[in-house]
Amino acid sequence: METNRDLEATWEYHEGTKHSFQSLRSSRHFLDFENKPLPFKIYPGLEPIPLPQGLEPSGVPALEALAASAAEPKGERLPDLKLLARLLHYSAGITKRIRYSQGEMLFRAASCTGALYHIDLYLVCGDLPDLEAGVYHFGVHDFALRQLRRGDFRGELVRATAGESAVALAPAILICSSTFWRNSWKYQARAYRHCFWDSGTILANLLAMTAAHRVPARVLCGFVDGWVNRLLGLEPQREVALALIPLGRDSPTGQAPDVEPLALETTPLSRSEVDYPAIRAMHEASSLAEETVVAAWRGAASVAPLASPSGRLFPLRPLNDREAPHDSIEEVISRRGSSRRFARQPISLEQLSTALSSIGGIAADFTQSGGRLLNDAYIIVNAVEGLPCGSYVYHPDEGALELLREGEFRDEAGDLGLEQALPADASANVFFLADLAPILERFGNRGYRVAQLEAAINGGRLYLASYALGLGATGLTFYDDDVTDFFSPHAEGKSAMFLVALGHPARKTPG
Ligand SMILES: Cc1cc2nc3c(=O)[nH]c(=O)nc-3n(C[C@H](O)[C@H](O)[C@H](O)COP(=O)(O)O)c2cc1C
Repeated sequence: METNRDLEATWEYHEGTKHSFQSLRSSRHFLDFENKPLPFKIYPGLEPIPLPQGLEPSGVPALEALAASAAEPKGERLPDLKLLARLLHYSAGITKRIRYSQGEMLFRAASCTGALYHIDLYLVCGDLPDLEAGVYHFGVHDFALRQLRRGDFRGELVRATAGESAVALAPAILICSSTFWRNSWKYQARAYRHCFWDSGTILANLLAMTAAHRVPARVLCGFVDGWVNRLLGLEPQREVALALIPLGRDSPTGQAPDVEPLALETTPLSRSEVDYPAIRAMHEASSLAEETVVAAWRGAASVAPLASPSGRLFPLRPLNDREAPHDSIEEVISRRGSSRRFARQPISLEQLSTALSSIGGIAADFTQSGGRLLNDAYIIVNAVEGLPCGSYVYHPDEGALELLREGEFRDEAGDLGLEQALPADASANVFFLADLAPILERFGNRGYRVAQLEAAINGGRLYLASYALGLGATGLTFYDDDVTDFFSPHAEGKSAMFLVALGHPARKTPG
């Protein structure tokens, strides 16, 4: 049997990395700060190619950019270094520096579990107006590119994606990777989920930016893993490619030169690294080995839609264009940060509605017919003016929330979010849940990657929409089965993929 079709692997990984009240209390894991990994990948032997600084904003309102990012932009813009610099900065660059007694903490454009920043971005391009064809790494620490290979290797990605048309025409392709240890240091085997969570938040920003600049962009999860990893010179036991994002659509690709092995020195991340075999097993089990498998993977049928509403419906009332805040996407990304505390104040139904309308389609090779999402949004409303407190499911087609259970659930929300105060204090908690069985049937084990990534991209959009509305937000982790139980019977059989809390930020009280 093709490895990707042996679905036991996903269930084993998913079950084995669930959080529960018990699992957290029985864990002996501790954080060895002496061995904390570096949050950057650094190639000390390669010359930096500085990216242009002082980037003028597009000025496109964030909410408009988010709405536009649900479809592939139609523009024909050829990315140049200045535009690439903008896209890289606002998706994965350093946007905030906070000084502490022990030093300085650098925060980035997109949220990331534990601020461990294990996701890297690579660029594969043909000749651009001011950058020669090559394979590059984006060095976040000094905002520079470094050339790993010289020459036009895009053809290798066309081959790896079985001739995906967006790749075949793209002048530039970005690739996200994760170095597992940089996240598993804290989160152990659960870090494989975070590969998709933390690249999803980056992609939410990137897609909003490409929409603002009208650069065609797609998210591709179907590719021959081994070929992409080899092109980037990754050691697949430690670091793997997760998604490809072709940018632009006016530059047909030729055949790539031979892909010779790369042996480039990188700065050690920490004194020693711990291997988590469950991560590697899940990655291997969801890998695609050759072009024919990729082509078949991409072409398969759609999963079933969300059941029609049967409970009481509350129509959403998004702010209209005149009422909605117009802060630009760049301003919003620059001020984004995860709320560390929420005030127990209500948000308006208009704010919740506008935030929820940022959840939308993704131009991707896993897009379902009719734009149907793989994840459903379930919500605990703690304090929203005009909505009874309770649990809901979001019906995007109806533009409405279906009430599942009315009641005050602040305590339950806190418990589901790993007993933290944030989800209890938030005005609303949005849980993305996916029915994994049909998704795995459709996509094989790779469906797990796709379902996590889709949830995280929409979670990242919720973050941005909340900040555009002058609210705060934070991603949160959760007790998996308790989340399903809480929203059942409606959510029976579904799995929690991602959680975002939103509300009015409050100052964190000292101590
Ligand atoms: C998927 C996800 C889960 C997160 N889970 C938690 C959490 O359980 N508790 C928490 O306090 N922060 C959580 N965070 C917030 C991160 O700690 C935060 O993004 C990181 O420290 C970087 O800071 P920034 O978002 O302010 O830039 C989460 C973030 C993401 C993206």
